[in-house]
Amino acid sequence: MPVTTLTIDGTPVAVETGSTILEAAQEAGVRIPTLCHLDGVSDVGACRLCLVEITGTRKLLPACVTEVAEEMEVHTNTEKLQEYRRMVVEMLFSEGNHVCAVCVSNGHCELQNMAVELGMDHSRFSYRFPQRDVDISHPQFGIDHNRCIFCTRCVRVCDELEGAHVWDVAHRCAGLKIVAGLDQPWGDVDACTSCGKCVDACPTGAIFRKGSTVAEMTRDRGKLEFLQQAREKGEWTR
Ligand code: SF4
Ligand code: SF4
Ligand code: FES
Repeated sequence: MPVTTLTIDGTPVAVETGSTILEAAQEAGVRIPTLCHLDGVSDVGACRLCLVEITGTRKLLPACVTEVAEEMEVHTNTEKLQEYRRMVVEMLFSEGNHVCAVCVSNGHCELQNMAVELGMDHSRFSYRFPQRDVDISHPQFGIDHNRCIFCTRCVRVCDELEGAHVWDVAHRCAGLKIVAGLDQPWGDVDACTSCGKCVDACPTGAIFRKGSTVAEMTRDRGKLEFLQQAREKGEWTR
């Protein structure tokens, strides 16, 4: 197994060549904040929370989709990065409609936790108050587009773990939307197996189980990890 050596926050690390900086950091016990990353599915670099600084490079690079290189010097927690991360979270709050007090995920929300972790207590950007809908056409689940942060975790688990590809990303810029089927009501999409993997993958209160009351929605990430590992090891094939 070819190995690449680099430093992360001054500590030497040796990882399998081809690993991402995020994987190297995880191996070294260094926590890099993430939102769109989900263990077990592919990375897309959508949220930009995991930006890191690399000596000799002016650009900030997303750790989840940047491969390690020999003698790379990675810095994961500089003042500049803390400032950028706070700004990213402020933008996420101001471009959606997040009213935590009446949200099913209040207290169990990765976006909310991230805001607390980064010390974000207000947004310097004006709130956009977009007009977005709520789809409760599915018998068991619902999606509130007001709380979606476009991390695409739902899209990737449905495609890569369930193989149903119910979810997709449609439109652009301010019109960006996560859609079911061909932008149909979720309940009308025959391909949906009602497995609930998207419910467990969603980091916010956007996808929820019907009947969950305020602050009640918890997610079972362990289930997704178990499924992914079982698939990788071929545990269910004969
Ligand atoms: S999704 Fe998270 S941040 Fe948004 S309203 Fe719900 S608890 Fe608050
Ligand atoms: S619905 Fe949830 S999982 Fe899907 S993109 Fe929005 S926030 Fe991410
Ligand atoms: S976790 Fe890397 S860009 Fe979102």
